[in-house]
Amino acid sequence: MIKTAMTSTTRIKRNKLALSLAATLFLSLPMSQAFAHEEHCEIKDTELGDMMKYMKSELRAYNKSFNSEDQAEMKEHANELLKLSAKAEQLTPVVISKASHHDANSKGEVSADQKVKFALYQKEMQDLNATFKALSETNDKVEIEALLAKVKQQQKQGHNAFRQNCK
Ligand code: HEM
Repeated sequence: MIKTAMTSTTRIKRNKLALSLAATLFLSLPMSQAFAHEEHCEIKDTELGDMMKYMKSELRAYNKSFNSEDQAEMKEHANELLKLSAKAEQLTPVVISKASHHDANSKGEVSADQKVKFALYQKEMQDLNATFKALSETNDKVEIEALLAKVKQQQKQGHNAFRQNCK
């Protein structure tokens, strides 16, 4: 009984480690290598894109209230950012959902490759969500500045890996 429990915990840990390693490798690749085919630019308006635009405006609003030291407003926008990143985690980026169109063997099914990429995407979005959570729990200026810098870096990394580069 105990042995079984330990084995499954070890397996979960190994899986997590494998995902982290894959994420590190994948995110260190430039977009052109991460996705060999990237001419999916016919699709520009997506639900995820709309959510991202909303995220951008909420982040701006957070920054504004931070600059005017309005803690109630800061909390409101941080909570909105938390919700948006949790929702975004459930949506699939165009570069992942359309990847199979270029695969001659694809029958419209989700490939193993797509599944791995989606897991990596979700991990990135969870990391962003964790940063927003930290942001929602602090009023410390120095800490907030460091967290905002982290958000910028996560945005850049997320876009390098998962956004179509056709604009
Ligand atoms: C606060 C951080 C972020 C902001 C402010 C932001 C903002 C944006 C904006 C303005 C767009 C363009 C939307 C459009 O014109 O339709 C966009 C697109 C996109 N972003 Fe972000 N983003 C952030 C973080 C991330 C992260 C961490 C990821 C990935 C893990 C990500 C993945 C994407 C993807 C995949 C698209 C293209 C939409 C699609 O494929 O449907 N973003 N983002």
